[in-house]
Amino acid sequence: MNAHPPLQERALAALSSAMPADLFLTDADAMERYSRDWSGDHYARPLIVARPRSTAELSSLMKCCHEQQIHVVPQGGLTGLVGAAVPSYPGGELVVSLERMNKVRSVNAIDFAMVVEAGCILEDAKRQAETADCILPITFGAQGTCRIGGNVSTNAGGFNVLRYGMTRDLVLGLEVVLADGRVWDGLRTLRKDNRGYDLKQLFIGSEGTLGIVTAAALKIFPMPDKIETALVGLRSVEDAMQLYARARRECSDLLSAFELLLRGGIEIALNARDDLRDPLDQPYPVYVLIETSAAGRVDLRALLEGFLADASDLVLDGVIASSKAQADRLWLLREMMVEAQGRGGRYLRTDVSVSISSLASFVTDTLEALAERHPEAIAVTYGHVGDGNIHMNIVPPEDMSTNRFDELFHATEEVIFDMIDKHGGSISAEHGIGRVKQAAFLKRADPLTLELSRRIKDAFDPSHLLSEGRILERVEAGAGE
Ligand code: LAC
Ligand code: ZN
Repeated sequence: MNAHPPLQERALAALSSAMPADLFLTDADAMERYSRDWSGDHYARPLIVARPRSTAELSSLMKCCHEQQIHVVPQGGLTGLVGAAVPSYPGGELVVSLERMNKVRSVNAIDFAMVVEAGCILEDAKRQAETADCILPITFGAQGTCRIGGNVSTNAGGFNVLRYGMTRDLVLGLEVVLADGRVWDGLRTLRKDNRGYDLKQLFIGSEGTLGIVTAAALKIFPMPDKIETALVGLRSVEDAMQLYARARRECSDLLSAFELLLRGGIEIALNARDDLRDPLDQPYPVYVLIETSAAGRVDLRALLEGFLADASDLVLDGVIASSKAQADRLWLLREMMVEAQGRGGRYLRTDVSVSISSLASFVTDTLEALAERHPEAIAVTYGHVGDGNIHMNIVPPEDMSTNRFDELFHATEEVIFDMIDKHGGSISAEHGIGRVKQAAFLKRADPLTLELSRRIKDAFDPSHLLSEGRILERVEAGAGE
């Protein structure tokens, strides 16, 4: 069987003759790991995998791809989970993996900035920041797998957003290879720079559709030498949000995480791992994982203890970690919940947001609507409620046949998204649109937003060769030229 149509065979032959052979992976086994994302839900074989070693090499590659009209999709750690980086274009896509461009170019503790190549694993970049007694505060479960270029391209969120902002807030500069191979050099560590349009903002969160990020200058911060972690049990989400409002004021804005976990999720984690124990003496409907952190002369422990003692009208029980190991175990509960929820099978992921003041009513109303209309669906609810961002996921009941999953996921997603619309929220607070959320996004986006977005795509990638069909609908060949 001929794997690619003849046109592509010719294009690939031209590409191979112009570029060094060791840039490419072609055999099926080697390509397998570029075919599937972290969830395993999204799968398609790349046309070929290219692994450039430098910006110059990627630039030459993209020039060739442009000449040959080969479709390209850039890949980081494949943990975005909305299908943006898995190949998909019907005629086949060349995958550009940035994994060989993984250096930390510099760390500067006076500028509080570091310059990192796109293929650097987030955890490695964080470790490098620590060598200068600083933190790179992008933090979430997949940090040992995801890569900086993906963090930038998806505007990654995570646990510390309430203190340090999304990835967008941390980017000082970018280096980007465009669809036609030209290099846009905006790699600066300037704190203030008000010259004209801030083009880097367009690449951040554009999911690889406007250019391929090759390096990023990122803000880093003084390393907090004190971290306190507490898990508290509460009556309701309403109480959790009241506790958050108080914590903002009473913890001197030293909160670095405020994660909500509903009991159902805790139980899934406890069932999945024998070595995890119920964190408090008895179960509570709602839990909050609170982290405060600070550098300098602050008695952080006394601050958190005093705060929780004063909140005894809301806090039914709680534990403050007395060691780093105990804090890690509290966080493990949060991470295991994410890993265990699908029991290895498919489930619906959402990452919606509403204003912080309407989060409690959103959760209550949505869970009620789900229970009424889809009582068989198991809702797993947790998230970064300090940002108004909640993951409301749907796990199918154990006895449901897999061919009914799509129907259940579609119907329950509608319930969740309708409620988001009623609350004036966002159907994607964190993970982006990719292909998975595209229909829901396009249905809701206003015409002017879509018109301007299409014109931006046309301006950066007039031939529509780069990550085509992510965020915006696919444009047929030639239509965009
Ligand atoms: C989390 C990721 C999945 O919050 O966004 O765990
Ligand atoms: Zn999240």
